Amino acid sequence: MTNTVFVLNGPNLNLLGTREPEIYGSDTLADIEAALRGQAEQLGLAIEFRQTNHEGELIDWLHETQREGAKAVLLNAAAYTHTSIALLDAIKAIDVPVIEVHLSDPTKREAFRHTSYVGMAAVDCVQGLGPHSYSVALEKAAAL
Ligand code: DQA
Repeated sequence: MTNTVFVLNGPNLNLLGTREPEIYGSDTLADIEAALRGQAEQLGLAIEFRQTNHEGELIDWLHETQREGAKAVLLNAAAYTHTSIALLDAIKAIDVPVIEVHLSDPTKREAFRHTSYVGMAAVDCVQGLGPHSYSVALEKAAAL
């Protein structure tokens, strides 16, 4: 196993900073990445930070984490969280522990966000803390 934690971000998260800031805050994804890199260095971890708007790419990247012997995955699958059985199957198909991450708390939002397919296979979940959700999740990954 390597000390690399993959941080995989799904659709529309490239627009953080301007996207519904009343829900997601004003930090950009680049801001979140920079903060996480600083924290990872202190924890002795390497970070592979990515974003895609495409479901299949997320699935390919999950498979890659297994081949690369990643320590863990922080996964904010965004809306695919609530729709993608294919993502659930991909998480179940790998041995790498996946921690589900959300900026908002989907359980306190619309009913269609209350189902999480990612959560059915993830080892843990951090949500509702804004960008801090990522740092708490990284702490959890470090402790795995
Ligand atoms: C999100 C929550 C999802 O319900 C939503 O579709 C997103 C972002 C979050 O980080 O709060 O795109 O994953």
